[in-house]
Amino acid sequence: MRIGYIQTDPVFGDKERNFQRVMEIVDVEAVKADLIVLPELFATGYAFTSRLEAHDLGELPGEETTRFLCRLSRETGAAVAAGFVEVECEQWFNAAMLVDGDRVINTYRKIHLFNKEKMWFAPGDKPFAVHPVRGARVGLMVCYDWMFPEAARSLAMLGADVIAHPANLVMPYCQKAMVTRCLENRVFAVTANRIGTEARGEDKFTFTGGSQITSFNGGVLSSAPTDRVHASFVDIDPHAARDKKINEYNDVISDRRPGLYTTG
Ligand code: ACM
Repeated sequence: MRIGYIQTDPVFGDKERNFQRVMEIVDVEAVKADLIVLPELFATGYAFTSRLEAHDLGELPGEETTRFLCRLSRETGAAVAAGFVEVECEQWFNAAMLVDGDRVINTYRKIHLFNKEKMWFAPGDKPFAVHPVRGARVGLMVCYDWMFPEAARSLAMLGADVIAHPANLVMPYCQKAMVTRCLENRVFAVTANRIGTEARGEDKFTFTGGSQITSFNGGVLSSAPTDRVHASFVDIDPHAARDKKINEYNDVISDRRPGLYTTG
């Protein structure tokens, strides 16, 4: 299985430009991949200043961002995971969508909102889920979900081989944390980050690039520059993520002692 990311430089509010940019960064016809991950909110940009902006840029699955992602999927032959603003019943979510060809496989609504996202978006209201993609099992989480071990663990417990992780990272910790998330769950992850700065309203966010593909054994298979758009693809064996043993005696899932943990 060939998995990868496209690290982009979105401009706030300019979806057409941001779609176009994806097509400039990769030679779509030359891409050979099974799964491509794009950043969180890759079409809209990140630094909202009001709910109205989120509402204006929000979409139902099936609208323009879906059409673009399905086109990218058809032209590359890969399933595509990417962030977007999802609207449902007068609620707006910081969401990610997984598409394959003309089909929306699922949307995931970011469960752990970061910073002022709490002012613009409703927190995710659906449980984590895992989906079959080309013989592998793919789960979605979005950016700051990395801070919560429960997110990657939930996906691993559901049987994920690969975590597709659209991101708009502004702190320098996630890439290192993903090494631990992948190691402790023995899963692969594709963290697709963005670059650039957005200064809007009272806020200024500088995004840290460094998109990363992390292996089930904690190895870093690809690491993007911090200041340039970039795309990278690597071959993996997703079935390697199904063996949770690290030696003859230890299995990172069955060794857990949930009866002795404090939860909730
Ligand atoms: C983030 O969750 N976008 C930092």
